[in-house]
Amino acid sequence: MSLIQLPPREDSVPAPKVTAQTLLDRKQAHQPITALTAYDYPTARLVDQAGIDVVLVGDSLGMAVLGYDSTLPVTMEEMLHHTRAVRRAVLVADMPFGSYHSSIGEALANATRFIKEAGAEAVKIEGGRNRAELVSTLTQSEIAVVGHIGLTPQSVHRIGYRVQGKSASAIDDLIADAQALEEAGAIAIVLECIPREAGGLITSALTIPTIGIGAGPDCDGQILVFHDLVNLTGAQPAKFVRRYADASALITEAIQHYASDVRGGAFPADAESYHLPREAGAELLAREPQKRSR
Ligand code: KIV
Repeated sequence: MSLIQLPPREDSVPAPKVTAQTLLDRKQAHQPITALTAYDYPTARLVDQAGIDVVLVGDSLGMAVLGYDSTLPVTMEEMLHHTRAVRRAVLVADMPFGSYHSSIGEALANATRFIKEAGAEAVKIEGGRNRAELVSTLTQSEIAVVGHIGLTPQSVHRIGYRVQGKSASAIDDLIADAQALEEAGAIAIVLECIPREAGGLITSALTIPTIGIGAGPDCDGQILVFHDLVNLTGAQPAKFVRRYADASALITEAIQHYASDVRGGAFPADAESYHLPREAGAELLAREPQKRSR
């Protein structure tokens, strides 16, 4: 949600700020919501300038930029650090594993840190009915919450990275989860890795918007991990990822070109070097050769 209020570019009129109400209006008007992750300021700036509605500082940063095997090791301090880095852009910050699981009091304290210390406008938590009380407490404490159901990566050791909601009863459960989160005050719900039929059914059972990732085209909006979108992951993409650019190839080519220029003496060129002022240069040249070379 144009989370970021960037300094206006000279050639552009700043887009109006996107809020939770904007998302609701979009759902009602059947206008798809766009969302992407970002973990640093330059990326958030590009994402915002491209007019994306929601920027999520996802705990997927653990895998996308910190080199972890899952999202589980991601800490509050890492999330706060990255959320601060996209501070002007961010709307939603992911609460990392362990930061909202032990008690509602601790979850409230950690969510408050995202708002006060990192400038987040909402927090995202994984889970369904089991998190309804927490969502309600956060909402009553003026903290906007985005829910996340379906494949919840923080539950990897219990459910694996597998498509969820593959039976009628599993879909009923997901609908009940989504409705409980809505009743508790969630402003939107991420639906991850579920059959498109389930995505459509959950979406039409709710007033608040759904944002899908591998949940089919019938959600109110879509989110992808930025690093998947531009191929910066180095891993086989999930079925739901569409690669819109090959940044890995571009960056590799640039790095190889740079290294070869350095090795071959083509970089830096004279134009990329600083020069002495004319008088100092003349003085240096006037010195005897042995002094000059010292
Ligand atoms: O952490 C993340 O990036 C997410 C999205 C995949 C929704 O939770």
